[in-house]
Amino acid sequence: MPSRLSVLLVLCLAGPLAGQEPESVFTAVCAKCHGASAEGNAQIMAPSLAGLPHWYGSLQLNKFRDGVRGKHHADLTGAQMQAIAATLTPELVTAIASHLETLQPVPILTPPGADPRRGGELYDEICAKCHRFNGQGERAFRSAPLTTLSGWYLAASLRKFREGVRGSHGADLEGPKMREIAVRLGDREINDLVAYIALLAERYPPGESGRKRAAQ
Ligand code: HEC
Ligand code: HEC
Repeated sequence: MPSRLSVLLVLCLAGPLAGQEPESVFTAVCAKCHGASAEGNAQIMAPSLAGLPHWYGSLQLNKFRDGVRGKHHADLTGAQMQAIAATLTPELVTAIASHLETLQPVPILTPPGADPRRGGELYDEICAKCHRFNGQGERAFRSAPLTTLSGWYLAASLRKFREGVRGSHGADLEGPKMREIAVRLGDREINDLVAYIALLAERYPPGESGRKRAAQ
């Protein structure tokens, strides 16, 4: 996991961010952890962001920026992202989030031994009403698009909600809804759900190109 020092180093090397093009900020700052094509890096727990809809990317970047996310004492990976987001202007948040949406999403890997059939039952019963039948989220509820994030990250995020490491800040409007759901999930159920979300990503390809294909 990158240390606080390496976060500072990334920022120093990138220089002043305001006024730069979103693509160059992405390459200079974000790509160090999230990968050159925003494909993610499991070793440092930085998720894939390619194809993430702009409204959700902005929502989360602003949460980090305002310290509503990533400030819990046990949230070490969130703290990395919080430190980075705090240096972004509101204009850059919007511009980078729009840039992420244009990148090609990567496939979600199924956790070993997980049961997508059981995951599908749970998904339809609990998750579909907010995250939709296709896992692409619902802007009106601000419920996350799930099929553009890495599989290991979906599982890690569900565990963070379950343990209250994410979603317990007093000013977090959406996180508590997810906490209520996640406290009911065991590790096995979480993996089964991720296996099913991986299937959804194949069935309903997310991202701009997938949406265009679906509309044809
Ligand atoms: C030092 C490494 C590092 C750098 C640099 C970094 N990130 Fe992150 N980012 C992370 C980690 C780790 C997480 C996961 C945080 C968590 O688990 O809550 C994350 C999470 C995110 C998320 C949340 C995704 C979601 O849906 O939950 C977004 C959006 C994001 N990063 C965007 C960016 C952007 C844009 C930049 C460049 C301005 C950037 N990151 C730079 C490490 C980094
Ligand atoms: C009542 C509506 C609701 C239900 C039901 C629900 N979610 Fe969510 N979910 C949300 C909202 C809203 C967010 C955004 C939380 C935030 O902003 O931090 C979210 C976020 C998430 C995230 C985090 C994505 C990220 O940014 O890291 C995951 C993973 C997730 N949900 C999975 C699930 C799964 C799996 C289920 C079913 C077991 C489920 N959710 C049920 C509303 C819901």
